[in-house]
Amino acid sequence: MPARNFSGPVSATIVLCAISLASPRAAEPAEAPEVAQPCLACHGEVLGEGVPPIAGHFNNYIQLQLVAFRSGRRQNEIMQGMAAGLSDNDIRALGKYFSSLPIPAAATQADEQPDLTKAGQRTAAQFRCANCHGDKFLGSQGAPRVAHLPEFYVAKALTDYRANTRPSSGGGAMTEVAGGLSDDNIKTLAHYLAVLP
Ligand code: HEC
Ligand code: HEC
Repeated sequence: MPARNFSGPVSATIVLCAISLASPRAAEPAEAPEVAQPCLACHGEVLGEGVPPIAGHFNNYIQLQLVAFRSGRRQNEIMQGMAAGLSDNDIRALGKYFSSLPIPAAATQADEQPDLTKAGQRTAAQFRCANCHGDKFLGSQGAPRVAHLPEFYVAKALTDYRANTRPSSGGGAMTEVAGGLSDDNIKTLAHYLAVLP
């Protein structure tokens, strides 16, 4: 009877499906949850103008930033609006999803200001930025990746910490660090971190 012949392979398929559902590969990015859809217009593979990439940031870091935007402690008109309606569960889902995505690749265009890069490297050594952010600035522990972020965005972030319009996790680490930076320091650091290979 044909039905009997089919029963073997069919049940084997069901078992295989059950196994692959139960153990998703860690390297595989999760599917975007519903709540992440509006974010992708700006933070998707093609970034909106003036928007930093958030793919591959630490889960905890993303969640902390969203909580800070929601409470208004981190000030940015667009993001305060985006975060206002998010529940704690939404924030958990967003942290989980965006942290599962691969880190964007380094920029490939040639460095047109190598002197500024060298000055930035010296400034980063002077202020021991790598102590927290890791030797390649790809992030470590609570300190996020700061390599390959847009130059304007790093300059803005450091200026915001210095002005205390952006709170810092890690016991106020960045408020303290940025307090000692001059405008010139900020300019060189932003360039250096943006052009890292
Ligand atoms: C209209 C564009 C826009 C949309 C839509 C948007 N963002 Fe943003 N996002 C920004 C901008 C601009 C910044 C930089 C804010 C600043 O300079 O402090 C930002 C910053 C962030 C940061 C902080 C990044 C960092 O490195 O500290 C996170 C996290 C974030 N957004 C998550 C989200 C999530 C989650 C959503 C969807 C719920 C979302 N954003 C929707 C424009 C947008
Ligand atoms: C004592 C540890 C420590 C040191 C030293 C340190 N950082 Fe940070 N940095 C942090 C932590 C923690 C955060 C996350 C803060 C937050 O919650 O916004 C951070 C965040 C940042 C951000 C924001 C990234 C983003 O996506 O918005 C930038 C840019 C940055 N650091 C650059 C630097 C630079 C440049 C130096 C050296 C001048 C430096 N940091 C030194 C711990 C440190």
